[in-house]
Amino acid sequence: MLNRKIVLLDGTGAGDEDLFPILDILMNELHSTGATVQTFPLREIKMGTCVGCMGCWLETPGICLEPDAGRDIAQAIVQSDTTILFSPVTFGGYSSEIKKIQDRWIPILMPDVGLYRGEVRHLRRYSKYPRLVGIGVQRQPNNESANLFKVLVGRNAFNFYAPTYAADVILSTDDPDRVRQQLQAVLVRNDNLPLGKVVTSLMQTAVTASVSAPTLDAPGRALLIVGSPRVKSPSTSGVLGGYVLNQLKQRGWETESLTLRGHLLQGKGQTEFLAAVDRADLILLVFPLYIDSLPFLMMKSLEVMAEHICARPQESPKRLFAIANNGFPEAHNNAPALAICRQFAADTGMIWSGGLSMGAGLALFNGQSIEEAQRKVLPVKHVIQALDIASAALANGQIVPPEAAKLMAKIPIPFMPFRLWRWLFIKLGNRMFRQIAAANQVGDEERFAQPYAEVGSA
Ligand SMILES: Cc1cc2nc3c(=O)[nH]c(=O)nc-3n(C[C@H](O)[C@H](O)[C@H](O)COP(=O)(O)O)c2cc1C
Repeated sequence: MLNRKIVLLDGTGAGDEDLFPILDILMNELHSTGATVQTFPLREIKMGTCVGCMGCWLETPGICLEPDAGRDIAQAIVQSDTTILFSPVTFGGYSSEIKKIQDRWIPILMPDVGLYRGEVRHLRRYSKYPRLVGIGVQRQPNNESANLFKVLVGRNAFNFYAPTYAADVILSTDDPDRVRQQLQAVLVRNDNLPLGKVVTSLMQTAVTASVSAPTLDAPGRALLIVGSPRVKSPSTSGVLGGYVLNQLKQRGWETESLTLRGHLLQGKGQTEFLAAVDRADLILLVFPLYIDSLPFLMMKSLEVMAEHICARPQESPKRLFAIANNGFPEAHNNAPALAICRQFAADTGMIWSGGLSMGAGLALFNGQSIEEAQRKVLPVKHVIQALDIASAALANGQIVPPEAAKLMAKIPIPFMPFRLWRWLFIKLGNRMFRQIAAANQVGDEERFAQPYAEVGSA
């Protein structure tokens, strides 16, 4: 039986009109159960994007600082029995329309962290969270990206304490009866959470470069695209990406760098952005993990680049390299995001040169430069070694060796068992969150606020 109150996040964008018949079948199915359905056609809703300020945790607990529709949608999700994500499968992930609202889900959790099913997770803010259903649509079958989509929905369900979840991928060209049957099944099915080996083996595939890359005759031109929206202090992504770019420059490469902002993906800004992409032989994507995936602007930039690149023949394939850093100490959280980058390379004919994944990105760098971070308590030597190995390989036109990915994902404190590092991370992290909130005059009681709880359900 499907639950009563349903929120449907419609992640179709401009040009996805061919997916509307599937959405219609889904709506008919939902209404036939007698459920109340609240649909949010995200492409039509004006809202700001998450800038990673954490004000929703440390200034106005549970509420994003941006007073717009993002708040109403977060409230509707918390008060729903089932939340459905409907999205074209985009390089194995969600469309940027979904990402725009999904990045604004963090206020529905606490900043504080603890252990949940063997992994570090933010604590619950509410006692009840909705069931999560992910419905992806593909225009052409692609098993790898369909599986990736399902893992991503499962990781979201895990992070957001969904009591149950299910995910499926529909082929847009399938006949309506088959689509209906598939939708009926996913709406009531319970899938297993992707934990442990599912994620670690996805990571293995994600960071591994294409088998070989044609050698380069001479140094080329590299474009660094930083995907962190943070503005208050240097982002970890900017610091890591800047280091690699500098290494390439020292080896004779021409370099160019940009930090994604909204204006770069529309109008004149987009024309200049795409010209920079066209000039590059090697593209470096460096970004923080946002809700198990790439941040909205990074995802949007992939959509914009893919449309541009696929519309014209390329003289020679570009190379793509990515670094993802996440907040929790388990670097494997970045697996779906790096797998999306790899799929993007495959879909656009780029050479996947490999990926690096770093856990505890905020704890290790916290707005500091590499030099400053080196002088602080938590060692970053392994990060620098990993970046040096990756830079040397990229400069020579080679793929990044697995050794670099291994080093990058290492526990920072030598010889410390992971369990101890994780315990320390939880202790220090929670203390830091409490102190920052207190400095903002936010006491413990206020920190645990449940602004979106339905009366009588908190
Ligand atoms: C909106 C938002 C969503 C996030 N989602 C995740 C997540 O799913 N998993 C995780 O480990 N960290 C998550 N983080 C933490 C960031 O990945 C982490 O703080 C990172 O180090 C920030 O890097 P930057 O300085 O390059 O922006 C999230 C942070 C924000 C603001």
